[in-house]
Amino acid sequence: MKIQLKPSTCLAPLPAVIVTCGDESENNALTLAWAGTVNSEPPIVTISVRYNRHSFPIIERTGEFTVNLIDAPLTRAMDICGVTSGKDTDKFAAAGITRGKGIKVKCPHVEESPLSLECKVIKRVDLPTHAVFFGEVLNVLAREEVIKNGRPAPERLVAYTNGSYRVAGDVLGTYGYTLKEQKK
Ligand SMILES: Cc1cc2nc3c(=O)[nH]c(=O)nc-3n(C[C@H](O)[C@H](O)[C@H](O)COP(=O)(O)O)c2cc1C
Repeated sequence: MKIQLKPSTCLAPLPAVIVTCGDESENNALTLAWAGTVNSEPPIVTISVRYNRHSFPIIERTGEFTVNLIDAPLTRAMDICGVTSGKDTDKFAAAGITRGKGIKVKCPHVEESPLSLECKVIKRVDLPTHAVFFGEVLNVLAREEVIKNGRPAPERLVAYTNGSYRVAGDVLGTYGYTLKEQKK
């Protein structure tokens, strides 16, 4: 028998990311755990942003954002970007991260992030508490050290689970390993 709890979004672990937005006149970085993968061709990701975030009107105005994945050394920076607001803080300075120049978008990316996805907003769905921006990934910027066999394979990425930041641990299997076992 299981205990019934009040309805809530219990999905975990969630990817913890820093979303960068803006252009040369104004730019910002905010931490998000509610980011998702929703389409493969073209590649599309979503970000859920509360309407009162300083970043919200910036993303709305520019129609662009960049999703920066977080590895263990960037954990503190990610927390700082999630507990301070661009209303009164230059988060790049506060978090000790560097603005990388956007290639396919005007907004900066986090230079220290292992992988940055430059996105163009193609759709917005307004839910009661959050706006969901759908972003087509126009470009993937990878740090050289995370590319293995020509593909991005960053390790020690940070996930958000029950209020804690954790890195993924033991390898329990690989994609399709059960099928391979059957064929033996
Ligand atoms: C781990 C973590 C996850 C967060 N996830 C979200 C999220 O998914 N959506 C959101 O709107 N805010 C989220 N926040 C809160 C924002 O990052 C925070 O309110 C931030 O100050 C907003 O920055 P801004 O006002 O400069 O845009 C999260 C914060 C943390 C620390």
